[in-house]
Amino acid sequence: MLRVSCNFTILLLAILLAITYTTSLQHPIVVEDYDDYNEHQNFQPIVKFDKPIVVKAIEKSEKQQDFSKIPGIPGVDFPLYHTVPPTSFSCAHVPFVPGMYANVETGCQAYHICHDGREGHQGAFFLCTNGTLFNQQEFACDWWYNVNCADAPYLYRLNLDPLKNPYIPKKKQEIIRKQNMRIVVY
Ligand SMILES: *[C@@H]1O[C@H](CO)[C@@H](O)[C@H](O)[C@H]1NC(C)=O
Repeated sequence: MLRVSCNFTILLLAILLAITYTTSLQHPIVVEDYDDYNEHQNFQPIVKFDKPIVVKAIEKSEKQQDFSKIPGIPGVDFPLYHTVPPTSFSCAHVPFVPGMYANVETGCQAYHICHDGREGHQGAFFLCTNGTLFNQQEFACDWWYNVNCADAPYLYRLNLDPLKNPYIPKKKQEIIRKQNMRIVVY
């Protein structure tokens, strides 16, 4: 009887662990303020707890984002999506997989990662922070005024470039880089 209950406790613990792990995966850390992020680079772990530790409050996600430092009118010059809305984007229509693709229907605030299809026909999708859009030329979120979203579909083919597409294995990138650097002696 004791053995059975012990096994049961282990099972319960395993389930709890699994739940904590999956919920932590569902809530990735989103860095919104890059200045603050840089400050954290110098963060020193505190070992002693004799005195109360005063830590700078971390901005809560519920709190309104400070748009005063971003040029332009929020919601007019750049979109303010909270989640990726339903769109007609499909990985079936992209030129290359795996790859990263700006979602034009969201004004490029959303982008998709098309790979093995395990997330469905829209791939894995993400939002760029408010004020930024997915720059298809750079394969990164960039300030809205640097991005011409309408051009994105014409740049989708950049995914074929192993030096641009971050999902192409590094080994292959290295081979291509070496080929490009080959010196021809006449
Ligand atoms: C963008 O701003 C809106 C309004 O403040 C907010 O509801 C939304 O969560 C923000 N989106 C992101 C991706 O931070």
